[in-house]
Amino acid sequence: MQQFRPSRWRRLFMPCLLAVSCTAAQAQSVQVLHWWKSLSEQQAVNLLTTKLAQDNLQWRDGLVPSGSGVGASIVLKSRILAGNAPEAAQLNGVLVSEWAELGLLLDIDSVAQSGKWEKNLFPKVWNLIQVKNHVVAAPLGVHRINTLFYNKKIFSKLELEPPASWEEFDQLIPKLQQAGITPLAQSSEIWQVATLFETVLLSVSNPAFYQDVFVRKQPSAFMDARFAQALKRLRLLKKAMPNPVPDKLWMDLSRQLADGQAAMLIMGDWVKGELNALGQSTDVGFSCVAVPGTAAYHIYDVDTLVMLAKDNSKRSAQEKLAQWVVSPALQQEYNQVKGSIPVLRNADTGKMDSCARNAWKVFSSGTAAQVPSFAHRMATDEISRDAMMNEIHRFFMDDQMTVGEAQKRMATMVRALPKNKAGNDAQDINR
Ligand code: BGC
Repeated sequence: MQQFRPSRWRRLFMPCLLAVSCTAAQAQSVQVLHWWKSLSEQQAVNLLTTKLAQDNLQWRDGLVPSGSGVGASIVLKSRILAGNAPEAAQLNGVLVSEWAELGLLLDIDSVAQSGKWEKNLFPKVWNLIQVKNHVVAAPLGVHRINTLFYNKKIFSKLELEPPASWEEFDQLIPKLQQAGITPLAQSSEIWQVATLFETVLLSVSNPAFYQDVFVRKQPSAFMDARFAQALKRLRLLKKAMPNPVPDKLWMDLSRQLADGQAAMLIMGDWVKGELNALGQSTDVGFSCVAVPGTAAYHIYDVDTLVMLAKDNSKRSAQEKLAQWVVSPALQQEYNQVKGSIPVLRNADTGKMDSCARNAWKVFSSGTAAQVPSFAHRMATDEISRDAMMNEIHRFFMDDQMTVGEAQKRMATMVRALPKNKAGNDAQDINR
């Protein structure tokens, strides 16, 4: 019989006896603060959680139920001030550079280097995630804002075609209303009105003018006839919406479209993820086209995760998270669920549905097609964004305000706004 020797016993059995606590100690974890609370957004979070768990990384969920970036950034600020920052957070666009400049973000240069991000990511995405030559965010996906969703069943029952121009859109309104259907679902929430308006502005102008307004904030652009035209079109669109326009969450609008209460919805393509999650297949229950006049353009909104630089104790877990989100396997699945397109230039378009393939085609065609979303923080600093969004909203809500009055108010107001530090996009678009 073999003699019991403590050292041998320890070598053989200690790892097993400690297995449970060992795993718990070894499993790294990161808390991720985000605002994804809709059905599809939650599915996307679940997918990330599951994939990361397979690699022994625990995603501790930090949902801020506000359902928008504003609430999430307020919570993030107060948690940082209280010394209780999460390890990672969903921060998009200019907020990334604003936070990086305060020295609050961890660089993930080594992850970017080993994953060859510079070569593999779309150049636009690669530029967005760098601040002062450091990579400070891991990109998840690219959403297209100028998307018009329509309920296929309603359109085929009434023998209608999706509109290719605003005139065609106007002709649909009485036909849908006579059938007892709201032509266009819309919310009066400030960010949702701004999301519609930026698309409308592009539809009646071009990317250079769009940037004069939202990136360069030129007072003269607000007095331009094209700006007036965009305001008029916004007001005309109200005829297609319920009166008064309700203060609804975007996921409720998606449901209205899915249920056939509304025929169309203009919104970022996270709506596609939501419609899919509600059981509607692309090109069966609904389909999507570019908003009239914007087919050649892609108003982009890139979702990114930043890592908070608390100390170095969580660095390896944070780097692992960054590495995972950009991996081709996750990119494909995640973006399918989320409604966006991958951030990788060599993604497999064969696995995309028609909406994603179309968004992909336009976005990958180059900088002339890529237009930064104002409402989704790709175009200007937070102060300017809030001030401009409020003015657009005021005009949208107050039918008594004339177009000329709104123009003058905004032209005066933008003179007082900060010059755009994050205006790098302005140089990209060929004028
Ligand atoms: C984000 C999306 C999100 C949407 C609605 C956008 O600003 O980029 O990821 O799904 O807001 O919550």
